[in-house]
Amino acid sequence: MLNLRAATLEDREALRVLIDASARELSKGDYRAEQVEGALQGAFGVDSQLIQDGTYFVVEAGGAIVGCGGWSYRRTLFGGDQRAERDAGVLDPRTEPAKIRAFFVDPAHARKGIGTLLLQKCESDARLRGFSRVELMSTLPGVRLYSARGYSGVEQVQYEVAPGVAIEFVPMSKSI
Ligand SMILES: CC(C)(COP(=O)(O)OP(=O)(O)OC[C@H]1O[C@@H](n2cnc3c(N)ncnc32)[C@H](O)[C@@H]1OP(=O)(O)O)[C@@H](O)C(=O)NCCC(=O)NCCS
Repeated sequence: MLNLRAATLEDREALRVLIDASARELSKGDYRAEQVEGALQGAFGVDSQLIQDGTYFVVEAGGAIVGCGGWSYRRTLFGGDQRAERDAGVLDPRTEPAKIRAFFVDPAHARKGIGTLLLQKCESDARLRGFSRVELMSTLPGVRLYSARGYSGVEQVQYEVAPGVAIEFVPMSKSI
Protein backbone atom coordinates (compact mmCIF):
# COMPACT_ATOMS: atom_id res chain seq x y z
CA MET A 1 0.00 0.00 0.00
CA LEU A 2 1.23 3.48 -0.86
CA ASN A 3 1.39 6.19 1.80
CA LEU A 4 1.89 9.85 0.87
CA ARG A 5 3.19 12.23 3.55
CA ALA A 6 5.05 15.53 3.84
CA ALA A 7 8.83 15.13 3.72
CA THR A 8 10.87 16.05 6.81
CA LEU A 9 14.46 17.28 7.08
CA GLU A 10 15.37 13.83 8.51
CA ASP A 11 14.40 12.28 5.14
CA ARG A 12 17.13 14.15 3.29
CA GLU A 13 19.75 11.39 3.24
CA ALA A 14 17.21 8.78 2.06
CA LEU A 15 16.01 11.24 -0.59
CA ARG A 16 19.54 11.83 -1.84
CA VAL A 17 20.00 8.07 -2.30
CA LEU A 18 16.62 7.77 -4.04
CA ILE A 19 17.25 10.73 -6.35
CA ASP A 20 20.68 9.40 -7.38
CA ALA A 21 19.27 5.94 -8.19
CA SER A 22 16.20 7.31 -9.96
CA ALA A 23 18.10 9.75 -12.16
CA ARG A 24 20.83 7.24 -13.03
CA GLU A 25 18.48 4.39 -13.93
CA LEU A 26 15.39 6.06 -15.38
CA SER A 27 17.14 8.51 -17.68
CA LYS A 28 19.43 5.98 -19.33
CA GLY A 29 17.74 6.19 -22.71
CA ASP A 30 17.53 9.99 -22.62
CA TYR A 31 20.83 11.28 -21.23
CA ARG A 32 24.49 10.29 -21.25
CA ALA A 33 26.02 9.30 -17.90
CA GLU A 34 28.11 12.50 -17.76
CA GLN A 35 24.94 14.61 -18.13
CA VAL A 36 23.23 12.81 -15.25
CA GLU A 37 26.30 12.96 -13.02
CA GLY A 38 26.62 16.68 -13.76
CA ALA A 39 22.93 17.27 -13.01
CA LEU A 40 23.23 15.41 -9.71
CA GLN A 41 25.72 18.09 -8.60
CA GLY A 42 22.95 20.68 -8.35
CA ALA A 43 20.18 20.65 -10.96
CA PHE A 44 18.71 17.46 -9.44
CA GLY A 45 18.48 17.25 -5.66
CA VAL A 46 16.63 17.99 -2.46
CA ASP A 47 15.61 21.61 -1.88
CA SER A 48 15.35 21.95 1.91
CA GLN A 49 13.33 25.16 1.49
CA LEU A 50 10.40 23.13 0.11
CA ILE A 51 10.60 20.68 3.01
CA GLN A 52 10.51 23.61 5.44
CA ASP A 53 7.57 25.11 3.53
CA GLY A 54 5.63 21.81 3.83
CA THR A 55 5.34 21.56 0.04
CA TYR A 56 7.58 18.53 -0.59
CA PHE A 57 6.19 15.01 -0.29
CA VAL A 58 7.32 11.42 -0.18
CA VAL A 59 5.50 8.23 -1.08
CA GLU A 60 6.28 5.18 1.03
CA ALA A 61 5.72 1.52 0.27
CA GLY A 62 6.47 -1.06 2.95
CA GLY A 63 8.06 1.63 5.12
CA ALA A 64 10.60 2.70 2.46
CA ILE A 65 10.53 5.93 0.47
CA VAL A 66 9.84 5.02 -3.18
CA GLY A 67 9.05 8.42 -4.64
CA CYS A 68 9.32 12.15 -3.95
CA GLY A 69 8.08 15.36 -5.48
CA GLY A 70 6.75 18.75 -4.56
CA TRP A 71 5.56 22.16 -5.58
CA SER A 72 6.46 25.68 -4.60
CA TYR A 73 4.98 29.13 -4.17
CA ARG A 74 8.53 30.52 -4.48
CA ARG A 75 10.41 31.68 -7.59
CA THR A 76 13.16 29.04 -7.85
CA LEU A 77 12.19 26.87 -10.82
CA PHE A 78 14.44 23.88 -10.23
CA GLY A 79 17.51 22.62 -8.41
CA GLY A 80 18.63 21.25 -5.07
CA ASP A 81 20.41 22.83 -2.11
CA GLN A 82 23.73 22.79 -3.98
CA ARG A 83 22.46 24.91 -6.88
CA ALA A 84 23.58 28.53 -6.52
CA GLU A 85 20.92 30.34 -8.58
CA ARG A 86 17.94 30.48 -6.26
CA ASP A 87 15.21 32.96 -5.45
CA ALA A 88 13.08 32.38 -2.36
CA GLY A 89 10.79 35.28 -3.35
CA VAL A 90 7.09 34.45 -3.06
CA LEU A 91 4.96 34.24 -6.22
CA ASP A 92 1.65 36.05 -6.69
CA PRO A 93 -0.98 33.32 -7.31
CA ARG A 94 -3.23 35.78 -9.14
CA THR A 95 -0.71 36.45 -11.90
CA GLU A 96 2.08 33.85 -11.67
CA PRO A 97 2.30 30.06 -11.97
CA ALA A 98 3.35 27.88 -9.04
CA LYS A 99 6.32 25.57 -9.65
CA ILE A 100 6.27 21.77 -9.80
CA ARG A 101 9.58 20.56 -8.33
CA ALA A 102 11.92 17.58 -8.19
CA PHE A 103 9.92 14.43 -8.96
CA PHE A 104 11.87 11.18 -8.61
CA VAL A 105 10.59 7.62 -8.42
CA ASP A 106 12.48 4.50 -7.35
CA PRO A 107 13.28 2.54 -10.54
CA ALA A 108 11.84 -0.63 -8.96
CA HIS A 109 8.52 1.22 -8.52
CA ALA A 110 8.32 3.07 -11.85
CA ARG A 111 5.07 3.07 -13.87
CA LYS A 112 2.90 2.27 -10.86
CA GLY A 113 1.26 5.68 -10.65
CA ILE A 114 3.51 7.15 -7.94
CA GLY A 115 4.49 10.15 -10.06
CA THR A 116 0.82 10.77 -10.83
CA LEU A 117 -0.17 10.50 -7.15
CA LEU A 118 2.44 13.12 -6.19
CA LEU A 119 1.43 15.37 -9.07
CA GLN A 120 -2.25 15.28 -8.08
CA LYS A 121 -1.35 16.21 -4.49
CA CYS A 122 0.84 19.11 -5.66
CA GLU A 123 -1.72 20.46 -8.12
CA SER A 124 -4.48 20.25 -5.55
CA ASP A 125 -2.42 22.04 -2.86
CA ALA A 126 -1.33 24.74 -5.33
CA ARG A 127 -5.00 25.27 -6.26
CA LEU A 128 -5.95 25.56 -2.59
CA ARG A 129 -3.38 28.31 -2.26
CA GLY A 130 -5.03 30.22 -5.10
CA PHE A 131 -2.84 29.31 -8.10
CA SER A 132 -4.52 28.60 -11.44
CA ARG A 133 -1.38 27.57 -13.35
CA VAL A 134 1.71 25.49 -12.65
CA GLU A 135 4.99 25.32 -14.55
CA LEU A 136 8.18 23.33 -14.34
CA MET A 137 11.49 22.59 -15.96
CA SER A 138 11.11 18.99 -17.06
CA THR A 139 13.74 16.39 -17.75
CA LEU A 140 13.27 14.30 -20.91
CA PRO A 141 11.99 11.28 -18.86
CA GLY A 142 9.68 13.69 -17.04
CA VAL A 143 8.10 14.88 -20.30
CA ARG A 144 6.39 11.48 -20.68
CA LEU A 145 4.72 11.76 -17.28
CA TYR A 146 3.75 15.44 -17.56
CA SER A 147 2.46 15.13 -21.15
CA ALA A 148 0.27 12.23 -20.05
CA ARG A 149 -1.09 14.43 -17.25
CA GLY A 150 -2.07 17.43 -19.36
CA TYR A 151 1.09 19.54 -19.39
CA SER A 152 2.21 21.23 -22.60
CA GLY A 153 5.65 22.20 -23.81
CA VAL A 154 7.98 20.60 -26.32
CA GLU A 155 10.83 23.03 -26.90
CA GLN A 156 14.13 21.88 -25.47
CA VAL A 157 16.49 24.22 -23.65
CA GLN A 158 20.11 23.47 -22.81
CA TYR A 159 21.37 23.90 -19.26
CA GLU A 160 25.05 23.61 -18.41
CA VAL A 161 25.59 21.11 -15.57
CA ALA A 162 29.40 20.92 -15.72
CA PRO A 163 32.05 22.71 -17.75
CA GLY A 164 31.35 21.70 -21.36
CA VAL A 165 28.42 19.42 -20.40
CA ALA A 166 24.85 20.57 -21.09
CA ILE A 167 21.61 18.72 -20.40
CA GLU A 168 18.32 19.12 -22.28
CA PHE A 169 15.31 20.29 -20.32
CA VAL A 170 11.78 21.15 -21.49
CA PRO A 171 9.80 24.02 -19.90
CA MET A 172 6.21 22.81 -19.42
CA SER A 173 3.02 24.24 -17.92
CA LYS A 174 -0.62 23.47 -17.21
CA SER A 175 -3.78 25.23 -16.08
CA ILE A 176 -5.10 23.72 -12.86
C1 LIG B 1 9.27 10.85 -14.50
C2 LIG B 1 8.96 9.89 -13.35
C3 LIG B 1 8.89 10.71 -12.06
C4 LIG B 1 7.60 9.22 -13.61
O1 LIG B 1 7.17 8.53 -12.46
P1 LIG B 1 6.20 7.24 -12.48
O2 LIG B 1 5.75 7.01 -11.09
O3 LIG B 1 6.86 6.14 -13.19
O4 LIG B 1 4.98 7.79 -13.36
P2 LIG B 1 3.47 7.18 -13.43
O5 LIG B 1 3.52 5.72 -13.12
O6 LIG B 1 2.57 8.03 -12.61
O7 LIG B 1 3.16 7.38 -14.98
C5 LIG B 1 2.01 8.06 -15.44
C6 LIG B 1 1.96 8.06 -16.95
O8 LIG B 1 3.08 8.78 -17.49
C7 LIG B 1 3.51 8.15 -18.70
N1 LIG B 1 4.87 7.59 -18.47
C8 LIG B 1 5.59 7.62 -17.32
N2 LIG B 1 6.79 7.02 -17.49
C9 LIG B 1 6.84 6.61 -18.78
C10 LIG B 1 7.81 5.94 -19.57
N3 LIG B 1 9.00 5.58 -19.05
N4 LIG B 1 7.50 5.68 -20.86
C11 LIG B 1 6.32 6.03 -21.40
N5 LIG B 1 5.35 6.67 -20.68
C12 LIG B 1 5.61 6.97 -19.40
C13 LIG B 1 2.54 7.02 -18.97
O9 LIG B 1 1.47 7.56 -19.73
C14 LIG B 1 2.07 6.68 -17.57
O10 LIG B 1 0.81 6.05 -17.53
P3 LIG B 1 0.72 4.45 -17.75
O11 LIG B 1 1.80 3.81 -16.91
O12 LIG B 1 -0.67 4.14 -17.29
O13 LIG B 1 0.95 4.25 -19.22
C15 LIG B 1 10.04 8.78 -13.25
O14 LIG B 1 10.23 8.19 -14.52
C16 LIG B 1 11.40 9.27 -12.77
O15 LIG B 1 11.65 9.36 -11.57
N6 LIG B 1 12.33 9.58 -13.72
C17 LIG B 1 13.70 9.93 -13.41
C18 LIG B 1 13.80 11.28 -12.72
C19 LIG B 1 13.20 12.39 -13.53
O16 LIG B 1 13.63 12.65 -14.65
N7 LIG B 1 12.22 13.07 -12.94
C20 LIG B 1 11.50 14.16 -13.56
C21 LIG B 1 12.03 15.45 -13.04
S1 LIG B 1 11.27 16.86 -13.89
